[in-house]
Amino acid sequence: MNIKEIRAQFPLINNQNIVYLDNAATTQKPHCVIDAFSEFYCNFNANPMRGIYDLSVAATDAYENVREQTAGFVNAKDPSEIIFTRNATESLNLTANILSGTLKEGDEILVATSEHHSNFLPWKRIADNKRLKIKYLDCDSEGEYSVESLKEALSEGTKVFAIATVSNVIGRVNPIREFAKICHANNTLICVDATQSVAHMKTNVIEDDVDFLAFSAHKMYGPMGVGILYGKKELLEKLPPFLEGGEMIEYVSKEKTIYADLPQKYEAGTVNAADVYAFGKAMEYVKKIGFEEIGERERLLTGYLFDGMKNTDNIRIIGAKDSAEHNCIVSFAVDDVHPHDVASIFADSGICIRAGHHCAQPLHILLGIPSTVRASLAFYNTKEEIDFFIKVLSEIRSRMGY
Ligand code: ALA
Repeated sequence: MNIKEIRAQFPLINNQNIVYLDNAATTQKPHCVIDAFSEFYCNFNANPMRGIYDLSVAATDAYENVREQTAGFVNAKDPSEIIFTRNATESLNLTANILSGTLKEGDEILVATSEHHSNFLPWKRIADNKRLKIKYLDCDSEGEYSVESLKEALSEGTKVFAIATVSNVIGRVNPIREFAKICHANNTLICVDATQSVAHMKTNVIEDDVDFLAFSAHKMYGPMGVGILYGKKELLEKLPPFLEGGEMIEYVSKEKTIYADLPQKYEAGTVNAADVYAFGKAMEYVKKIGFEEIGERERLLTGYLFDGMKNTDNIRIIGAKDSAEHNCIVSFAVDDVHPHDVASIFADSGICIRAGHHCAQPLHILLGIPSTVRASLAFYNTKEEIDFFIKVLSEIRSRMGY
């Protein structure tokens, strides 16, 4: 990987004097994604799916081609299993909402405690509204979920299990394929938040056999404003819509409504075509580099960051003790210093990291720590950036007067 050439593709990190280590919050965008907006608005702008004139057909094609591309990207059988939303949060809310009608009082939902609030709160709300039982699966102090603990937590009444491929705080990969097998043997659906893994490793919904999978475009070099939901066709076909309005119907009268087929049934209103088009460019970009190269470089960078932190005094790394389990994410605490003070010192040095509970408060409560600081990497980061991060990290306590 020619890192100089790669960085030249990302105007923001290339032009500004910053060290960007907040990639789990959003990644920077390459030129091809940024240019895609003007390409769309200069060449294809009309309301997709509405007109039969050439321009509207071109807009529809530009949009639908990305649906096909996305299906290929996650290895879905059929493009109609791909629904575009605003973000992963909307994809997960959509899933919980459409499934809620199939659940009855006393049914059970199992949610992994390390989930981001977006794969936690929607389940909690439908459980409250429909008097469902909700159970939580706790990880151990290193963020690991065992197969045994899942088996034990499932009961005959468990209808859905919600878990991420990778926690946005701990960075550990969960054994989704194995979990899906266990869930299906119990007639339980598995709803997966893949937001923190899609940019770093291959997603394969068929091999993993997941029922629903959500992610955001902006965490994989694409634009903000596009979420993706994959759902198995046989499930989406029989479930009700989430939002209702334009273009998601076949027929409407005062007496009767017939919904459109997939995927339109789940895409009410004018779609976010320009952003979806730009997301297509992001997938092309990632595919061109390839997950093998991306993975190799990111493992190297994660190891370098992890070792630097491990060798710094008064730092507590959250999660696994082995860098191989961290997948671009290392959260930590500095003894005696509040995470927001740590983040401020980094900010003063031009280093972008995130502090707080990272929208995963139940995990922080489980681990007994109110908040953490998180450094998160992408393949465009460099060892020099990490060296600078470690230098500032080692000075934090003395800068705070310890
Ligand atoms: N979910 C994003 C994060 O973990 C915003 O930072």
